[in-house]
This record gives sequence, C-alpha cells and structure tokens, in this order.
Amino acid sequence: MRRRQGENTRAVHLPPPPRPTQTPVGLPIWRTAAWSFEDSQEYADVLGDKVPGYSYSRVDNPTVAAFASGVASLEGAAAPEDVAGEAFASGMAAINAVFTTFLRTGTHVLAPAPVFGGTYSLLVNVFRRFGVEVDFVDFTDLGRVRASVRPNTKILFAETLANPTMAVADLRGLYRVAREAGALLVVDSTFATPVVCRPLEHGADLVVHSATKYLGGHSDCTGGVVVGRPDLMAKIRNVRIDTGGVLSPDDAFLLRRGLETLSLRVRRHCATAMVFAAAVAKHPAVRRVDYPGLPDHPGHQLARRLFDSGPEGTRYGACVTITPHGGFEAGVALADAVRVARVATSLGGTHTLVSHVASTTHRQLDHAALTASGIDAGAVRFSIGLEDAEDLIVDVTKALDVARARGKA
Ligand SMILES: Cc1ncc(COP(=O)(O)O)c(C=O)c1O
Repeated sequence: MRRRQGENTRAVHLPPPPRPTQTPVGLPIWRTAAWSFEDSQEYADVLGDKVPGYSYSRVDNPTVAAFASGVASLEGAAAPEDVAGEAFASGMAAINAVFTTFLRTGTHVLAPAPVFGGTYSLLVNVFRRFGVEVDFVDFTDLGRVRASVRPNTKILFAETLANPTMAVADLRGLYRVAREAGALLVVDSTFATPVVCRPLEHGADLVVHSATKYLGGHSDCTGGVVVGRPDLMAKIRNVRIDTGGVLSPDDAFLLRRGLETLSLRVRRHCATAMVFAAAVAKHPAVRRVDYPGLPDHPGHQLARRLFDSGPEGTRYGACVTITPHGGFEAGVALADAVRVARVATSLGGTHTLVSHVASTTHRQLDHAALTASGIDAGAVRFSIGLEDAEDLIVDVTKALDVARARGKA
C-alpha cells in the first residue's frame, strides 16, 4: 500500500490550480511571489529570458503586466508592439526609475518650475547628492527652456498639465528642443490621462503616471507606470528589477479595472470641471480661476490643439484652482468651508478633493518662490470628482461666501 503523506505535507502540496485555456473576462489576481518549474533547465531558461515565463514577482507578474500593457495600449501612438509599459509601486517609484536609468553623475536634467513637489524633492534631495545637475525653469517659455539646455542635458521632464496652475506643456515645442539637445522628453501625464492627451503622439519618448490618481480613479490604491519605446523600456525594466519598487498584484488588479472605466470617468470629470470653473469665475469673491478650459487661461489655445474632444467639448483636465480675494486666510477659509468636497490630499478619484496649495501641497515654497511659480498664497486646488456639477457649484458658492465674509472681517 502506498504510504500516505502527513497532513502538513498534504496541506502544503494541495493539487495545483487549474490552468484554464480560455481567456478570463475579469483579470485574475496572481498573488504569488514565485513560480515553480519542471526542472532546473527551465528555471535557468526563464531567468535568462531564453523562454517566456514567470519566475519571481519582483521580476514579472501577470496581473501587474496586464496593467502595464493596458496603459501602454491607451497611451500608444503607434502599433501595440511599438509601445511597452512597466508598472511600479507608486508614481514616485516610476519617476525614480526613469531618472535612475538615464541620469548619472555629471548629467543634467531640466524640469518645470513649478514641478510636482515629490519630483522636485527627488531631484534636489536625492539626485543632486549623486552629482546630477538639476535646473528648474518656466516650461511655458520655450526660449528659456532652450537657453537652459547644456551639452550634458539628458532629460527634459515636462508635465502635460502642471499643478496647481494647470499650465499646459507645449509638447511639440519641447520635443523640438529635446531633439536638438539629444535629450529624452519625459512627460508626467498624471493630470491629463490618455483620455485628454497622449504625449507619445506629440514626440515624447516616455510617459509617466501616478496611477494612484485617475488611472485607478477611486483613491483606494497606489501605483505608477512608465510607457514608451521598447528599447528605452527594456532599460527601465532592468532598473525596476534591480531596485524593486514593484506594484503588488492586488493593486494591479484595481488599477487595471480602473482602466476599463477611465474614458467614461475622465470625460465626466472634465465636463463637470468645465461647468464648475465657468460658474466659479463669476463669483465676486474670486480673484482668479486657473483652468485651461477658460478662454483667459494662458494655455487655452494650446490645450485646444493638443487635447482630445468629444460631443461634450474639449477635455481640459479636471483640476480647477480657485484663488479668492483676501490671500492666504481667504484660501484656508474657502477650503475649510466646503461640505460636498473634502479637504484631502491626492486627486483624480470619484470624490471632489480640495487642498489649500500654500499650506499643503506647496508648503516647501516660501512667498517669493510661490510668486515666482505663479501661485497665489490663497490658491485652492479642486480635484473635481464624479458628483453632480450642480451640487459642487452650490457647495463652492456657499464656501466662497464664507471666504468673502472672512476676508471682510
Ligand atoms: C503630477 C504627479 N506626479 C507624480 C506624483 C507621485 O505619485 P505617487 O503619489 O503615486 O507616488 C503625483 C502625486 O501627487 C503627482 O501629482
């Protein structure tokens, strides 16, 4: 009689899961750290990329790969095989992988002033320590950008829509400057998403996203992604494997599911933001509204050329920055008085979220630096969610009344 194995061995070595031959409609979560092989030869061949396969989830994971290839497909300017993607644990891990791959001691990177604070800090506090030269210039002034290029410039790092001014990047102009300089054009398109603009179509070499925002869309997971030319992505993949900032399969599942409704959500976000911005601009307590959909925004014409449109009109993104009269105090009063919207960090989810810029997202900048970046001390950024536009307008109108009363007190 065959010897029966002990209960612990049998528990550990349960029958293997089925390997379905049909493609599942929903995405399975491959929550495993490692795969097993027929023998050591297969193990070596998979590790050596001689045969396709999975070995270890820091290297590759099917759920994570499904998310990355999903973003590559949505951002892709060319045939699917011409655009590859790599996913990361956060937007910052994705940006770090790009810089680590293409910068080294003595090379130079140009980024916008203002750039997202995490990117600023990464360049100043980490990459400068390793002898990378970093300059921040006004990216809306192409002449300044061109004049700031050096022989050792390797990356022009742009943002499709800047936070919180919603400045629109002249991607084609930046592409020309990058080509003349022999540098890569890398675009953080977190605020735009491929539903608004696909920078690869305008000459960008690589696009990065904080997937934590619109791609996921529900403020329930963090992630990042880089997409672009396969030869560049192969180098980024090696750095991802070596540095290990990988996305978890669970978050990859949520992010990939987010992609399925991205277009529906972002169209609605943008349409509501347009109505909201136009309504707010009429309120007497408002000194300025930064939203590229408004004709007086400096990036309005550029946005009309670069950004997609549909029956609902051009999509100008869904963050609206409101500056009330009355400076810092009035801004804080406005943020604190909203009730439908919530005071919170992050953006791009179903809930409308507000941040008083000077005291939160841009707190590292002193008054002079804020002014130089075109940011008023009273500015409040609204990330417009999926609520009904009318409710958001009633909410912000009441909050602006409070801010006005506070300003007069
Ligand atoms: C424009 C932009 N890029 C990158 C990031 C970093 O993303 P994460 O927080 O996912 O690391 C953020 C986060 O707010 C962002 O707004």
